[in-house]
This record gives sequence, C-alpha cells and structure tokens, in this order.
Amino acid sequence: MRRCFVCGNWKMNKTASEAATLLRDLRGAVSMVRDRVEIAVAPPFTAIERTAKALEGSNIAVAAQNCHAEASGAFTGEISADMLKDLGVSYVILGHSERRQLFGETDDGVNKKVHAVLKAGMLPIVCVGETLAEREGGKTLDVVSAQVRGCLKGFSAADGARFVLAYEPVWAIGTGKTATSRQAQEVHSHIRGLLGELWGGESAGQVRIQYGGSVKADNAAELLAQADIDGALVGGASLKVADFSAIVKAKG
Ligand code: 13P
Repeated sequence: MRRCFVCGNWKMNKTASEAATLLRDLRGAVSMVRDRVEIAVAPPFTAIERTAKALEGSNIAVAAQNCHAEASGAFTGEISADMLKDLGVSYVILGHSERRQLFGETDDGVNKKVHAVLKAGMLPIVCVGETLAEREGGKTLDVVSAQVRGCLKGFSAADGARFVLAYEPVWAIGTGKTATSRQAQEVHSHIRGLLGELWGGESAGQVRIQYGGSVKADNAAELLAQADIDGALVGGASLKVADFSAIVKAKG
C-alpha cells in the first residue's frame, strides 16, 4: 500500500533561525503520527543544515526545493544533488510550477535533475500541473501527460517505487482556490493510468501522487480520502505549525 506523504514546501520563507523555532514546535505537534503518514519539510537551501539538525531523531524528513543536474563545476549560485544528500536531505522537489514559470524550467531540464537526484540516493518529488487557460481550454490531461512523459523519460518499471509525483494545478497555488476533490482525483487517476502504460500496473500502483494547491486544514481530509491522492504538497499552510500538523493528521 502507498503510505500517505505530506510535505511542506516553505518556498522562499524562513531564515535558518526562524526555521529552528518552527521545527521545535512542529516536532512536538506531529510526534504521535508514526506509521500512517510520512512527513517532510522543504526549507530554503540556507536553512537545510539547521533543519536537518533540528529534526534529528524525529519522524520528519528533510526535503529540498530544487537542485542542479550536474554533479559539480562552474555553475555559479547552484547546488548539486550530492551537496544536499550530504546535509541529510531525503527528497528533492523538482519542476515546481514557480520554477517553470519564473525560471524557465522545462520537462527536459527536470528530467536531467531527476536522474541526478536518484543517482545521489535521494527521491524526487516531480511536480506537474496545468494553468487556468489550459484547464479552461480543455487541455488539462494532455498538458499533464506531456509533463509526466517528459520528466520521466529514461526510467523504467524498476524505478517506479522511487518516484513521488505532485499534481499542482497552477491556478490553485497560493490562490486559496483548491481543486475540488473530484477534479484532483480525475487528474491523479489519469496520471496513474499513464504510469501504467509506461511502466505497467504494478509499478504504477507504487508511485505516490501528492496533490498541491491551497491545501488547508479544512479541505485536506476530503482530498486525502480520494483513491489516487496519496498525500499533499503544502505551501502557505506549512508555515504555521497548527495548520500543517492538522493537515498531517487529516488522513482518516
Ligand atoms: P499553496 O499551498 O500555498 O497553494 O502552495 C502550493 C505549492 O505550491 C506547494 O508546492
């Protein structure tokens, strides 16, 4: 069975000192959630080391928000997968829509990063999702399919269990407008069907697909109850301990 996985994406928020305070409270708030839900937080690069220390011995894993595809070299300002692994990072969010829209990331580029992350011994959280115009134009499933195919190029059924995908409709991110559980389930089930075509049903059944986009304490339970929604990628609400811990505990 797929274990529910809730990850907080802090985006460009929290200094290392602020992170330490938040994490101390979060540790306490979710310490009783053991087997049912896997939990991670993705702070900015500058807070990763402090975060890893603050979470030692806890049930919360450390994720990063991005990395570079190359192992090392003349890439000023970039961070490699090995550097993250060395700090205790377990997951790397790749292809977030903010990176696609604001920093020109492509499926091809994300694919290279996925290879780098897996090679370094971490697991990718690969984000896909349509814009409002694409949804209104009836293109949602085509757009998401192309993103999944592009980002997963070169992998086979044997890699399936190492993937986490996140469906994040762009129009739902930071807008307070969540996809309905039906809209989300439709896309999640479509993605799982596509993974089945690519890798076969057994492997497709192991891939966890998170939903992201205005997940809050009051809508998490319904989203997480859907058959193909295996967790949440949480932005704004992950910055508040009460909200994030309520989401973590929402899985019935
Ligand atoms: P919000 O939860 O703030 O809408 O952000 C979602 C997101 O982008 C998580 O990666």
